[in-house]
Amino acid sequence: MAAVLAGIGGFLPPRVVTNEDLSATLDTSDEWIRTRTGISERRFVSGGLSTGGLAVEAGARALRSARADAVDAVDAVVVATTSPERLCPAVAPEVASRLGLGQVAAFDLTSACSGFLYGLAASAGLIASGAADTVLFIGAEAFTTLVNQQDRSTAPIFGDGAGAVVLRRGEPDEPGALGPFDLGSDGSLADLLAVPAGGSRQRSADGGLGHGAVPTGDWYLRMEGRPLYQQAVEHMTRSAQSVLKHADWSVADVDWFVGHQANVRIVRAVAEELELPEERVAVNIDRVGNTLSASVPLLLNDIAARGDLRPGDRVLLSAFGAGLSWGSAVLVWPDVAAVPVS
Ligand code: ACO
Repeated sequence: MAAVLAGIGGFLPPRVVTNEDLSATLDTSDEWIRTRTGISERRFVSGGLSTGGLAVEAGARALRSARADAVDAVDAVVVATTSPERLCPAVAPEVASRLGLGQVAAFDLTSACSGFLYGLAASAGLIASGAADTVLFIGAEAFTTLVNQQDRSTAPIFGDGAGAVVLRRGEPDEPGALGPFDLGSDGSLADLLAVPAGGSRQRSADGGLGHGAVPTGDWYLRMEGRPLYQQAVEHMTRSAQSVLKHADWSVADVDWFVGHQANVRIVRAVAEELELPEERVAVNIDRVGNTLSASVPLLLNDIAARGDLRPGDRVLLSAFGAGLSWGSAVLVWPDVAAVPVS
């Protein structure tokens, strides 16, 4: 028994923000952003569109990509997000309801940029435990709402979007079967990337003084880019090597390395460590930025929709993010329809 990928879809909010747009209000430049990160433009939510709406759009597209009866078959919805609609409740039940999936099992999980890998493993676990036969799993992020747009060290990096997959019960030797997985974390470095305010730690510490007592900066992302960069390269490389070993694949077996898009230099550095040639490294950060848990499914959808990723191709997935947390998995790409995200 295995969890098998049976459908994929993605969605980006319509508002495009270019490097030139950012340079109009920030002390930065198109040249700096492109050469240091590989990003040319990204999407921002606007007009009340938020994580739930992005998740619904991506989920609907993944259901359309899956077999015709997918809507009736789905018995669990999982949403990975680090930019929740609100602190409580989870958004997944609302997404299930808005997609007409009825009273199915539904929950959120949080693992920042490794959210898609953790969510894939959790969704596969629902299928393995018998709790579900078909899972709609969505990575959805409106993370730019948590980024201080006056902070040039973080504002250019992030973008909003959602990517979704349908997973069904199947056989380990069929195309689309997920696994093995490699997952890991290092909570001793949690402060390298954090949004300090809004949770129980801040609420308890401010003794009920109210939000006015919290420094404004604490409501936004704080990130130490340089040490994160090093950690990202180290852990994605080690995790990818570990999962390849468990899968009994060599680097030469990998047709596509689909790595979390935090910075094109990180993805290329990992590929170099793995000795993977550049033409097998998937990249779309130039037009989406870092979309956290939506990053890997949006990239898979992009390369499948443009015909580069073909049925039978061997895919290595790897991601790293806040927590710290990281994860990798492999699969042989199945024959699924993918529609370009505009
Ligand atoms: N425009 C112009 N100059 C800038 C900008 C900007 N937007 N931002 C920083 N600079 C300057 C700095 O002030 C610094 O100037 P100085 O040398 O005079 O002091 C110089 O550029 C270099 O700054 P660094 O921070 O060292 O730049 P670096 O090359 O490390 O790139 C970046 C920064 C893009 C953030 C990189 O460190 C990175 O990608 N880190 C990893 C991020 C990551 O992986 N996060 C985890 C996943 S996200 C998640 O989980 C939510």
